[in-house]
Amino acid sequence: MYKTDKPILGLLSGLQTDRMPVWLMRQAGRYLPEYRALREKAGGFLKLCLTPEWAAEITLQPIRRFQFDAAIIFADILLIPMALGQKLEFREGEGPVLEALKDEKSLAALNYDEKKLFPVFEALSLVKKDLPKETALIGFCGAPWTVACYMIDGTSRNDFHAAKQWAVNNADNLDRLINILVDASELYLSAQIRTGAEIIQIFDSWAGLLDGEMFHRFVVKPTQKLVQRLKEKHLHIPIIGFPRAAGENYRGYAQATGIDALSIDQDIALGYAKELQGIKTLQGNLDPALLVKGGDAMKSGIEAILKTLGPRHIFNLGHGVVPQTPPEHVAELVKIVRSFRV
Ligand code: CP3
Repeated sequence: MYKTDKPILGLLSGLQTDRMPVWLMRQAGRYLPEYRALREKAGGFLKLCLTPEWAAEITLQPIRRFQFDAAIIFADILLIPMALGQKLEFREGEGPVLEALKDEKSLAALNYDEKKLFPVFEALSLVKKDLPKETALIGFCGAPWTVACYMIDGTSRNDFHAAKQWAVNNADNLDRLINILVDASELYLSAQIRTGAEIIQIFDSWAGLLDGEMFHRFVVKPTQKLVQRLKEKHLHIPIIGFPRAAGENYRGYAQATGIDALSIDQDIALGYAKELQGIKTLQGNLDPALLVKGGDAMKSGIEAILKTLGPRHIFNLGHGVVPQTPPEHVAELVKIVRSFRV
């Protein structure tokens, strides 16, 4: 029988667990002084992602502080567009900026060059060596639709108006782009698994922009294809899907994509979450704003999730830790979750 020292892997493989695993999206990052210090030294976010020793160090920083049950490799969903040949910059105070795709011609120029991502694989191997035996390593990518949003619009400043235009008026080209992304993501994630990732998370941050037929075509279908191809090669690697802000569409996504667990955002009411838990193991959904606030508000938010969804639940936020978060609140969160017993 499958045995593991890692509570999160135990839960994802259907084993009995006596503790609820906990980790947080964006658990590494600007709210930690040790991250800010290293980023200053490196001279930029992209430099950090592409220097294996630094990326590995940053991945481990929150593990040392908070003993989370999982580490997530420090990287970004926009490294795939970069590896496809798109120019990528992270500007101070502005977030990511890509050279926006215009038409078929710019699609034809995309060409996946895996060498550009070798630093990520190297970082995974470095982290794996230093990880406590009960901590699992998570690899990730952006879902094809969300990555396409950034590639088509270049920034998030216009609410992905251009990407939505492609979905409505230029669907064949959007299919082509999404197919390119499914192929590249499959190769990228397979290499992450070979170099140490034990769980994969697919971030579809902008899934909530689509509905109905378009949700099915550009969110569900490509994710299903990617999951199926990964499962053919790596049977035992659990996959967590996160179609953020998808509301009622979480249900269809959970049923159709073949993922092992579903990450839910903070807008999902606990009653609906309970229903979704009947379909899939869940992860989430504490409001990141409660982690900023701390105190009783945070405590009751955490307890409501523990009582409704525990113990077979992966404790996490509904979205990433924000830079304003006091690190002491994170320590308090872990303490509350860990003291919960079945
Ligand atoms: O979770 C982790 O700790 C692992 C690392 C990670 C980052 N980005 C590091 C990061 C992960 C999993 C991501 C995913 C990601 N990147 C998503 C999906 C999740 C989500 O947040 O919705 C998206 C949409 C991106 C694209 C991206 N990267 C944006 C929009 C931004 C700017 C917003 C911001 O928070 O500054 C980034 C930058 C980024 N990615 C930072 C970090 C730590 C901040 C970089 C810095 O200024 O130091």
